[in-house]
Amino acid sequence: MTTKIFKIDPERIAPQAIAEAAEILRAGGLVAFPTETVYGLGGDATDAQAAQKIYAAKGRPSDNPLIIHVASPEEAERYAVTNETYRRLADAFMPGPLTVILPKRESIPSAVTGGLDSVAVRCPSHPIARALIREAGVAIAAPSANLSGSPSPSCGDHVIRDLSGRIDGIIDGGDCEIGLESTIVKLDGAHATLLRPGAITADALACVCESVAVAPAVTEGLAQNERPLSPGMKYKHYAPKAPLVLLEGDADEVLSFLYRAQNAEKCTILCYSEETEYLRGERLIDVGAREDLVTQAHTLFAALRKADELDGDIIYAHLPPTDGLGLALYNRLIRAAAHTVLRVKSSLKG
Ligand code: TXA
Ligand code: MG
Repeated sequence: MTTKIFKIDPERIAPQAIAEAAEILRAGGLVAFPTETVYGLGGDATDAQAAQKIYAAKGRPSDNPLIIHVASPEEAERYAVTNETYRRLADAFMPGPLTVILPKRESIPSAVTGGLDSVAVRCPSHPIARALIREAGVAIAAPSANLSGSPSPSCGDHVIRDLSGRIDGIIDGGDCEIGLESTIVKLDGAHATLLRPGAITADALACVCESVAVAPAVTEGLAQNERPLSPGMKYKHYAPKAPLVLLEGDADEVLSFLYRAQNAEKCTILCYSEETEYLRGERLIDVGAREDLVTQAHTLFAALRKADELDGDIIYAHLPPTDGLGLALYNRLIRAAAHTVLRVKSSLKG
């Protein structure tokens, strides 16, 4: 299949291109589009066949449900049963990088929700995503627009590399602002369970919800036979070709570990900007300044794709903090590393 590429400047959206892409969606086709988090692979959320095409194009198991994207928070009511807490979350964070799990209505076929009676709803803030959903006139079901097993795409090139020839269209709108997928919460009255951390942090959610619990699978592996709260938790997540090891410890000690590692083995390093002057440039990927978690989120998925290209025998990265936006970075990295953490200790201290 030939994939039509629409190059659209988010600041000067060409209505003709949006109209054409929306027409593909209404006709049951698939179009990848940018959001403020990562690119989505979109199809008509009310069309079971479109959902099947999405699973096939991604190579994704069809019991892992899709997020539906709406043009305004109120539109969720057409597809899901909303409640007071949803409305308060919507007032505070939508449009934006938040997904809320709600009881589904019949307008959403069970092919979209992997057979669940709940549906994940999100109202993105990206101007291209909003224009496309509005023009399509229907909610758009969209998982991240990567092949199953690749990191989520944070720029148009990633999508073109993964899905060109497999879907009808790709809207290339440049870099995604945030670079990590949306925060996902499940509501139980005014109580929220955080299923996937993202740019809307647990602290921010706690300002609106009565209480916020972080699902254990966000930081820990699932125990054997444990039933996940979100089907996505049980699937093999992205894993780089070479083993990824996360380093924890005092900043100077980790830096000297990395310095020695570069002499001893063929390693790829995801390092902080401050460290680049102490390390050799070969297989070195700058992920941003140590305290700049926003930049680290923005660069993480591109850095992981790059690490695969550099083809080292082992990949090292810093273990992120687990507070604020750090929890989202921690969650993606700890899964990519299959929970491999090395606590670096000074040889002097023993
Ligand atoms: O930022 C994002 O959320 C991006 C953009 C495109 O919006 N989308 C995204 O979709 O990351 P995806 O499919 O890659 O991840 C959705 C996650 C999956 O882990 C899935 O299991 C979970 O949401 N999910 C979807 N519906 C659910 C439901 N009804 N109950 C529990 N988990 C659900
Ligand atoms: Mg995904």
